[in-house]
Amino acid sequence: MLTGAGISAESGIVTFRGAGGLWEGFRPEDLATPAAYARDPEKVWRWYAMRYAQVMVAEPNLAHRLLAELEREKGDDFLLVTQNVDGLHQRAGSRRVIELHGNITRARCERCGHRQKLPPPVEFTPPPVCERCGSRMRPDVVWFGEFLDAGLLASAERAFMTAEVALVIGTSAVVEPAASLGRMARSAGVFLIEVNPETTPLTPLADLSLRDPATKGLEKLLGG
Ligand code: OAD
Ligand code: ZN
Repeated sequence: MLTGAGISAESGIVTFRGAGGLWEGFRPEDLATPAAYARDPEKVWRWYAMRYAQVMVAEPNLAHRLLAELEREKGDDFLLVTQNVDGLHQRAGSRRVIELHGNITRARCERCGHRQKLPPPVEFTPPPVCERCGSRMRPDVVWFGEFLDAGLLASAERAFMTAEVALVIGTSAVVEPAASLGRMARSAGVFLIEVNPETTPLTPLADLSLRDPATKGLEKLLGG
């Protein structure tokens, strides 16, 4: 199971690409890269603080809740891999979640690597300072040009290649290496299902493709 920004669209969180997407009007390289942060950390932090505030007022939607329920049914046979940094899957009750791109509600120390939760948005003035060593902290997310955690990626790949069914929901399937998980599953003979209102590079490979928003697609699939 792989989810992308589209699963949180119905919670009011804007996606990165497409009409009204977050990247529209400015280039991702202006904000979500190590170089952008080195050049203008205040600007990058303002953007993340704004998105963090949006995430904290958002609520998980039916699609998040249906996936949490599916995990309770399937137990250890179920793994949720997400590119989202909003934490809505966990707030909906999902337990085994691999966050490939990190989490926007946390910061990571630039010097000692310590991670800590951000204070509530009303009390938060960026940049946060490490409670352990006093250094400046950065958002605990993966930026363009950075590597994903190798262990997490390996676990995700293993799960996708050995699953009975791989379900990919709400991702444009253009950002690597997450985008290749569906492809890898398919070439390993796993039944691939896509839920997305638009076609993506994954659509021609899918055994079943639902042109639906996440909530409706999951209701159809799970008979809810
Ligand atoms: P994108 O914004 O690239 O794609 C969102 C996808 O969701 C599109 O394919 C939409 O068609 C689809 N969508 C829109 N509304 C939907 C709905 N209600 N239900 C289901 N799908 C819907 O988001 P991602 O693919 O997640 O990386 O983007 C991948 C990565 O690009 C992000 O994790 C982020 C960004 O750069 C980092 O921050 C490292
Ligand atoms: Zn530190």
